[in-house]
Amino acid sequence: MKTTTLIRRAVLAAAAIATLAALAGPARAGDLEVLHWWTSGGEAKAISGLKDSLQAKGHRWKDFAVAGGAGDAAMTVLKSRAISGNAPTAAQIKGPLLQDWAAEGMLANIDTVAQAERWDELLLPVISDIVKYKGHYIAVPVNVHRVNWLWINPEAMKKAGVKPPTTWDEFFAAADALKKAGVIPLAHGGQSWQDFTTFETVVLGTGGPAFYRKALIQLDPASLKSPTMEKSLATFRRLKAYTDRNAPGRDWNLATAMVMKGEAAMQIMGDWAKGEFLAAGKTAGKDFLCVPAPGTAKSYTFNVDSFAMFKVKGEANQQAQRDMASAILSPAVQESFNLEKGSIPVRQGVSLARYDDCAKASAADFAEAGKAGTLLPSIAHGMAVRAAAEGALKDVVSQFWNSDAITPAQAMDRLVAAAKAQ
Ligand code: GAL
Repeated sequence: MKTTTLIRRAVLAAAAIATLAALAGPARAGDLEVLHWWTSGGEAKAISGLKDSLQAKGHRWKDFAVAGGAGDAAMTVLKSRAISGNAPTAAQIKGPLLQDWAAEGMLANIDTVAQAERWDELLLPVISDIVKYKGHYIAVPVNVHRVNWLWINPEAMKKAGVKPPTTWDEFFAAADALKKAGVIPLAHGGQSWQDFTTFETVVLGTGGPAFYRKALIQLDPASLKSPTMEKSLATFRRLKAYTDRNAPGRDWNLATAMVMKGEAAMQIMGDWAKGEFLAAGKTAGKDFLCVPAPGTAKSYTFNVDSFAMFKVKGEANQQAQRDMASAILSPAVQESFNLEKGSIPVRQGVSLARYDDCAKASAADFAEAGKAGTLLPSIAHGMAVRAAAEGALKDVVSQFWNSDAITPAQAMDRLVAAAKAQ
């Protein structure tokens, strides 16, 4: 065959492919409605990279953001939407709650993407187990947050002449000195999930990882009502005197802002707080410090965000959903998302070169804790127990925090009863 004929054929073939691609282009563009609760500065920056990557593929992203830390409001909205047969494409759902949604038959099987991209090799079993239902992927994990952190303003500590505390005794000594120096020792937002976040961290720091596991994961009645729990409750209550009187109802990111400005010296919070410091242009190790919460250095309470994929109609929308699943675990989105969010990549084997020392410490401690058996799911963030028990325990903890009339003994009886909630 003559060269010119070959070239002509190649040109015709290329034109045919281009026509097909042009035809397929708009047909493949699908609608993505994504429910999440990432509305604070750092949170919103983190999710925007994912949104951009899907819009670049031609998909239409409809942001379904329901404000409210830890997602309590978002979960209520999701339930009412799902009941009326109008579920979104994807929704931020975490931990054991994923199993409930999958059992309702509402979630899509995304094994084709998972197999093509070898998720079983990219994810640790402790994480892939959470996002599978009966062995099939129904959700995509995004990140790994560590909950048991203490965030510190170094200037405020300097003002009071104190160092970052490593035990609760040191914490209270530093807190007294801070109070004397006119600094609010502990920034707190009096919302139920924040009370519960502080509580689980105090339990871990008081009783250690084995006690945390028995009490807050296995919900063992003898641990929920024990001298160690009594001590944890007493320590938890003691913290209240070091918070300010405007704490009730305050959003977590406003509490972080108090530490940023030096109005308060410390905050007990997961590393989404770091996302706020970074969004405000602050530098880890200089403008703010991250240390494990008192008594918890060798343990790691984890909180993995994930998007559940709902059953959607239409090939274009299904393709958009598969593209979203794939994008979330891509190295590019893992980096853009986690650098802003304060978390570490959930995908194994990606470089941490661009991450700060808090993230590097988190990754090292996550690996260490995995080996030592001190890697623990956060109960306050929906990772440890079924939703009914979690909600009931959270209520007891907040009631105890808010009312000094409840004794630790009474609170323990209520914890034992709440743990039985179905
Ligand atoms: C957590 C969630 C984090 C963070 C936080 C505050 O439950 O896992 O990603 O956003 O709530 O909203």
